[in-house]
Amino acid sequence: MTIIRSKVDTSAAEFAANVEAMNSKLAELDLEFRKVLAGGGEKYVERHRKRGKMTARERIELLIDEDSPFLELCPLAGYGSQFTVGASVVVGIGVVEGTECLIVANDPTVKGGTSNPWTLRKILRTNDIASQNRLPVISLVESGGADLPTQKEVFVPGGRMFRDLTRLSADGIPTIALVFGNSTAGGAYVPGMSDHVVMIDGRSKVFLGGPPLVKMATGEESDDEELGGAKMHARVSGLGDYLAADEQDAVRIGRRIVARLNWQKQGPAPIGAANGRVEIVEPRYSPDELLGIVPPDLKIPFDPREVIARVVDDSDFDEFKPEYGPSLCTGWARIHGYPVGILANAQGVLFSAESQKATQFIQLANRSNTPLLFLHNTTGYMVGKEYEQGGIIKHGAMMINAVSNSTVPHISVLIGASYGAGHYGMCGRAYDPRFLFAWPSAKSAVMGAQQLAGVISIVSRAATEARGGTVDEEADAGMRAMIEAQIEAESVPMFLSGMLYDDGVIDPRDTRAVLGQCLSAIASAPVEGTSNFGVFRM
Ligand code: COA
Repeated sequence: MTIIRSKVDTSAAEFAANVEAMNSKLAELDLEFRKVLAGGGEKYVERHRKRGKMTARERIELLIDEDSPFLELCPLAGYGSQFTVGASVVVGIGVVEGTECLIVANDPTVKGGTSNPWTLRKILRTNDIASQNRLPVISLVESGGADLPTQKEVFVPGGRMFRDLTRLSADGIPTIALVFGNSTAGGAYVPGMSDHVVMIDGRSKVFLGGPPLVKMATGEESDDEELGGAKMHARVSGLGDYLAADEQDAVRIGRRIVARLNWQKQGPAPIGAANGRVEIVEPRYSPDELLGIVPPDLKIPFDPREVIARVVDDSDFDEFKPEYGPSLCTGWARIHGYPVGILANAQGVLFSAESQKATQFIQLANRSNTPLLFLHNTTGYMVGKEYEQGGIIKHGAMMINAVSNSTVPHISVLIGASYGAGHYGMCGRAYDPRFLFAWPSAKSAVMGAQQLAGVISIVSRAATEARGGTVDEEADAGMRAMIEAQIEAESVPMFLSGMLYDDGVIDPRDTRAVLGQCLSAIASAPVEGTSNFGVFRM
């Protein structure tokens, strides 16, 4: 039998303590999500409604198939910055007329839906997801363009937004713009670069320059409608393909456009799919128990098989090389019928054997065109004389080489620690996993806060002594405490999510559903492995 037998005692005091700690982190997260849902706040939402407009989220809800889920991505973008958390744009994957699409909706209640540096990063991330996974893009446009006070950060790199749209089109990935309001200046190139454009009578305003700018530039007198109204674009300029009567009509037309794309996914269907239905066996253990697996103190190890047992179909897991390199657990499973190879850190540290095992496993997944799931809980590669002499650098490099050059889709979930080069070997953000999520329990940094503060202290003590000075113990302790607090604050998932280093912080109980949606989206593109890796240093 390859069914995982759980050893978790759900009645134990430690389990209850883990649940309590996770719940308190979820409550903190919930506060931030509420801010995200509030958009620009009551005053601006009220004003928006008085204008007879739907909010960005209402537009999305009407666009996607009834009762279908919407996987919102990067909702915490901009957290910890001067900008409203969420970065004035809502993005995610939703099903429209049975087709998974990437939906990008400006939030006009936040500074007129303008693009600040975080909005730009979020939209560029969205475009990457669309391109890698071949997902049609639907833009719900209502934006004042660049956030002018931060134009130096958005203007030059912002050109990529429009470049990406036309490259998606060149790749045969459909792009659709539904223009709900202002789409000025650079923003005019969202409809300009899209394959299909819907404008709303009396609402859409698409021009390179509004009346004041035109007056300044050429002295010409004009009004919004003449310069960029929906009727003008539908009848005169030809930029609008469809003239909608109102917002609901625009959404209806948008859905019809998707229905007529004749879009076919190019990846494999889930195993067990027949007549459009898939027989899926749920895990044998409740996902609710995922709240109690990870201890709040990440120094205490936990068995990732307990997580796998609550995420994969039927809790069925064929472990690969279980007796070799036991600090990394590898094996094969299915999630919602999609085959996956899983690499999960079992005891934190990665040694040479674990690195070699990971490399072989990644090669095998590439041979069988199987996507890979990385479950992070690592403090990094082992340091010390014995390990350096044993070749830990070349073995770690071997694993990083395999991860970098593997062409099957990767998904990473940070469930615990993700420190040092271990973050790289386990397919951290820079290694382009198709999706990367974090649990509220996760922490990621170059190393742990305490270790980092300790290293700085040792280095600065040595420097002081080398200069012939004496170490001020009190100042050193103060400096260590300050650095530790700073690194701790910068290592938590909300902060990292704010920086767009992940695609979202998820409730552990939603892991299986989120992974299922991601694997389904991934299957829009072909899933093909490679045997072309870099030179492995033996
Ligand atoms: N950059 C920075 N802030 C902007 C902005 C921009 N491009 N456009 C609007 N804002 C701010 C406003 O100052 C206002 O802030 P406040 O509420 O703190 O005072 C807030 O966003 C809402 O703007 P408001 O004009 O009240 O909203 P609206 O819904 O009536 O109109 C626009 C929205 C986008 C049509 C209008 O603000 C506008 O035309 N902006 C300039 C657009 C432009 O020329 N952009 C150039 C891009 S290259």
